[in-house]
Amino acid sequence: MATGYEQADFWAKKAKKEGYPARSVYKLQELDEKFKLLKPGMRVLDIGAAPGSWSMWVARRIGPSGFLAAVDLQPLRIALDPSASFFVQGDIYDQAVRDAIRERGPYNLVLSDAAPATSGNHGLDTDRSEALVEAVLDYADDMLAPGGSVAAKLFMGGGQKALLERLRGAYGSARAFKPKTCRPQSFETYILGLVRKPAQAG
Ligand SMILES: C[S@@+](CC[C@H](N)C(=O)[O-])C[C@H]1O[C@@H](n2cnc3c(N)ncnc32)[C@H](O)[C@@H]1O
Repeated sequence: MATGYEQADFWAKKAKKEGYPARSVYKLQELDEKFKLLKPGMRVLDIGAAPGSWSMWVARRIGPSGFLAAVDLQPLRIALDPSASFFVQGDIYDQAVRDAIRERGPYNLVLSDAAPATSGNHGLDTDRSEALVEAVLDYADDMLAPGGSVAAKLFMGGGQKALLERLRGAYGSARAFKPKTCRPQSFETYILGLVRKPAQAG
């Protein structure tokens, strides 16, 4: 049986062969196939996009009639078509970054693979990851079109239940899903809000 490291090596080699800068693309592929997230012509926001594997996958799936906005603290290591995309290097907690992304909205899908730099302290890392997911859900509240969806990486800790509860209020369904391509020992999962409900009046 393959160990976690052998599996990771398999996915890393496959990504390299297929021209993706990170093996995380196969997690998005699984999410996309399972939840039918991406369609040609969609407007998509990719949070925590560097080095750029998810953005590459998204750009291929939405095609030239779609639009991709991407944001990360780090630069991308891929080239995107400037006529169908926008990249901002910065922190999603920064208001100027938020305004620049909002100006290009609304979006049909908000994706986040953003993760805090791990400290080795599990409690601290999961708290930071939960705070990032809260921020991503705020972006989705602000910038998603009705019927749109959100998928965000979460380091599993005590906060998963409350985040799913928040999603249940605003979306047709709320799910947690761990792709098979995640390392077996990793404590990351993805939470999804599918099909945003129209805003309630009043
Ligand atoms: C696992 S990587 C994303 C990999 C990417 N999905 C890909 O396929 O290439 C996580 C990213 O989250 C970014 N990140 C973490 N906190 C952030 C923040 N507050 N604002 C913007 N990006 C952030 C990190 O810089 C890092 O590049």
